[in-house]
Amino acid sequence: MVERTIAVIGGTGDQGFGIVLRLARAGEKVIIGSRLQQKAEDAAKRACAILGEDCPVSGMENPKAAAAADIIIMSVPFAAHVDMIKSIVGNITPEDLFIDVVVPLSTAVGGGATTSLGVWEGSAAQQAVKLLPPKTKVASAFHNVVADALQDLNRKVDCDVIVCSDSQDTRKVVMELVNEVPGIRAVDGGRLENSRIVEQFTALLIGINIRYKVKDAGIRITGITP
Ligand SMILES: NC(=O)c1ccc[n+]([C@@H]2O[C@H](COP(=O)([O-])OP(=O)(O)OC[C@H]3O[C@@H](n4cnc5c(N)ncnc54)[C@H](OP(=O)(O)O)[C@@H]3O)[C@@H](O)[C@H]2O)c1
Repeated sequence: MVERTIAVIGGTGDQGFGIVLRLARAGEKVIIGSRLQQKAEDAAKRACAILGEDCPVSGMENPKAAAAADIIIMSVPFAAHVDMIKSIVGNITPEDLFIDVVVPLSTAVGGGATTSLGVWEGSAAQQAVKLLPPKTKVASAFHNVVADALQDLNRKVDCDVIVCSDSQDTRKVVMELVNEVPGIRAVDGGRLENSRIVEQFTALLIGINIRYKVKDAGIRITGITP
């Protein structure tokens, strides 16, 4: 495996913490980012209590976490997306890889989680591009997989994860990363503008969870070889 450090901004939250656990279990060095140092450290302790010996997880304030990382995963509510990117942008270099997990749910404006917002730039991931240093490698992933499934290390995750980026090389790197999670199959979602479709699908899945009284509805793309 390539020696690298991954920071999960918002890694104290449900989705980010699930990603932290899965990537750390796969052998990645992971930093949990938070607005608060103590909260980040507490979450890292919680992760290490689950992961056991030689735990590769630490906790730092978001800007320090971003500065120390080669890959930055953004996992915060859409309402905080712009501010959180602005808070770390000075610590991101063009060599870094930025992966956006954010879904523009209507909850950001007081609505429900079963509908999504239109984003002026097209998608949350494209909004990130506008705020990040030029040439930053940007991808989006992990939108259609639920935190409950990621956090339960005792079972495989049963869904596909669609990865979007304007760079084919970046998509390849992120797909390899995503495929480190047992049960998940990464699917090449093409250009970053397709992230709009993938992000909006999450609102549909939340509605399906409610209607079917389940917690982890996901998607599988059929007709393609792995
Ligand atoms: N939960 C899921 O199953 C799921 C599935 C697919 C996609 N997603 C998407 O993944 C992202 C994260 O979801 P989540 O459920 O993990 O969210 P969350 O638990 O509500 O928040 C994640 C973290 O973001 C930070 N945060 C929360 N509110 C903030 C605010 N107003 N300003 C700045 N930072 C704030 C907090 O970290 P600190 O307080 O430590 O800074 C929090 O622990 C969202 O965009 C969501 O739509 C979630």
